[in-house]
Amino acid sequence: MSSETLEFQAETRQLLQLMVHSIYSNKDIFLRELISNASDALDKLRLESLIDKDLEADTSDLHIALEVSAEDRTLTVRDNGIGMSRDDVVQLIGTIAKSGTAEMLRKMRESKDAAAKQELIGQFGVGFYSTFMVADKVTLVTRRAGEKGGTRWESAGEGTYEIEPVDDAPQGTSVTLHLKPEDTDDQLHDYAADRKIREIVKRYSDFIAWPIRLGDSDTPLNSMKALWARPRSEVSDEEYHEFYKHVSHDWTDPLETIHMKAEGTFEYEALLFIPSRAPFDLFMREGKRGVQLYVKRVFIMDDCEALTPQYLRFVKGVVDAHDLSLNISREILQQDRQIQVVRRRLVKKVLSTLTEMRESKEKYLGFWGEFGRALKEGLIDDADNRDALLDLLLLPSTASGELTSLRDYVSRMKEDQKDIYYMTGESRAMVEHSPHMEAFLAKGYEVLILTDPVDEVWVERITEFDGKQLQSIAKGQVDLGATETPAEQQEEFAPLLKWLGEKLQDDVKDVRLSSRLTTSAACIVGDEHDITPTLEKMYRAMGQELPRTKRILELNPTHPLVTGLRSAFSAAPDDEGLVETAELLHGVALLAEGGELADPARFTRLVADRLARSL
Ligand SMILES: Nc1ncnc2c1ncn2[C@@H]1O[C@H](COP(=O)(O)OP(=O)(O)OP(=O)(O)O)[C@@H](O)[C@H]1O
Ligand SMILES: [Mg+2]
Repeated sequence: MSSETLEFQAETRQLLQLMVHSIYSNKDIFLRELISNASDALDKLRLESLIDKDLEADTSDLHIALEVSAEDRTLTVRDNGIGMSRDDVVQLIGTIAKSGTAEMLRKMRESKDAAAKQELIGQFGVGFYSTFMVADKVTLVTRRAGEKGGTRWESAGEGTYEIEPVDDAPQGTSVTLHLKPEDTDDQLHDYAADRKIREIVKRYSDFIAWPIRLGDSDTPLNSMKALWARPRSEVSDEEYHEFYKHVSHDWTDPLETIHMKAEGTFEYEALLFIPSRAPFDLFMREGKRGVQLYVKRVFIMDDCEALTPQYLRFVKGVVDAHDLSLNISREILQQDRQIQVVRRRLVKKVLSTLTEMRESKEKYLGFWGEFGRALKEGLIDDADNRDALLDLLLLPSTASGELTSLRDYVSRMKEDQKDIYYMTGESRAMVEHSPHMEAFLAKGYEVLILTDPVDEVWVERITEFDGKQLQSIAKGQVDLGATETPAEQQEEFAPLLKWLGEKLQDDVKDVRLSSRLTTSAACIVGDEHDITPTLEKMYRAMGQELPRTKRILELNPTHPLVTGLRSAFSAAPDDEGLVETAELLHGVALLAEGGELADPARFTRLVADRLARSL
């Protein structure tokens, strides 16, 4: 086989364009990316050789070597780790498997200012491609441990790459950067200078567990200390932050660092981070979760789901457990009793850290804005920590434009108010203006406005907070004291309600008088356990067939339309026009809550006819 020229996948090409045209200002980080890849490759080889005794690989001096040539203006990063096969190279270097790439690129195109673009690219992380910020050509030579032949890959980052087999490649991978000319105005430093390389390695990669050597020197540039094994007092914030960037591939400092050590029957160390920003794939099904698992300093796996629950998938970091087998599989981990204990402790610690973070309002608001929606999933999945999670909630309410905690809501409750009121819906405006709100606003009761899709689900599970019921204002009977409908009013309306119930029986299961309306004529409410219209819509959007939910039509007994209808009905119960009025009344109630009419064309025709007659 000879040399072949292949095209990068379209998304990769666009990403490379961004790199080549140096969109990101901190160019130094390309070296961290390469060293991180080399370190991963060494981790993988060590683990594979521990598990597979027959693997023909040399593990006697695993390390990362850096070589610079000022003359040729090249920098080479070499490792003797796991290496890649030809297919690996095409798959891993020629394409981006990362979810959210298209989304990121779209946002990139849409964002106008440079700072926003930097933010996006940093959040996404571009790994290997960051080399094209500093190099106009990159050559990669690699041989997979245990295989005979190697592969040479080369590209200028402009849309294509060349790939060919090589016979004499050493085990592992070397990446050679043909450096762009120095341009300090553009933060493009001299990466062929020893001094610069030393500085960058010390700064970004000191904790890497493998020796990083420069030139002929055997003394590593890095201290190699596993950060999580050092006492907290000896680690600087900057070291923590660089380590975070290494494990998370985020380019921004974390919001919070959690360092734990457990001794006794099951020893482990954990170094966890709460990021400042949500990753692109936080709400994507293929999104990653979990922290890295080490066993006595040996890297075992990335994204260890067994260690953190789904709703804390944004937590990054490392857990080093001392008493596990290196061979442990994901399946076994899920059932391991000790891992379950560790997981419970990690969850408690993360939640207590967040609880402490609430002391600083700005910081917590920042956290909530990024991860609040994920945390709400915990209310559904994690019954053990429900109380802590409820205390962490921040929700919009009718009280002000600001978010409120449940505790603050309770402290503002009116003396005669028994329940915590909320309403779910698609948007704040829709909920705020819905007729269900009327009597609550009139009485000065605060209502929580829940518009996240996940809200629809957790409110069904949580019945109370601090001894107060959580009550939807769009469901069930409301009893707002004084507005209760007197018995004689009930009697007066009984025949009309019965008649309406029959005429509208395809659409509603009951018609009754309301105490929640002050200005609107009618609204539609659900029974305590009825599915809400928003949730129904969500299920339909996901392609789920649902039986149509019939809800209840409530009428405002003081509204002229309703009293008028009552008089008209008692005067001439057989009048044909009354049936139309009933239909219109139902339609109006549906529209007021943002619902959809079954037959909008018919509805508009009826309205137009009525209007025409009134002119
Ligand atoms: N030195 C190396 N040895 C072996 N495989 C490597 C090496 N460098 C890169 N790879 C492979 O190429 C893939 C892509 O690398 P890249 O740095 O772009 O992404 P990543 O490391 O997976 O994620 P991130 O964007 O977080 O760095 C890696 O996942 C790895 O499989
Ligand atoms: Mg990488």
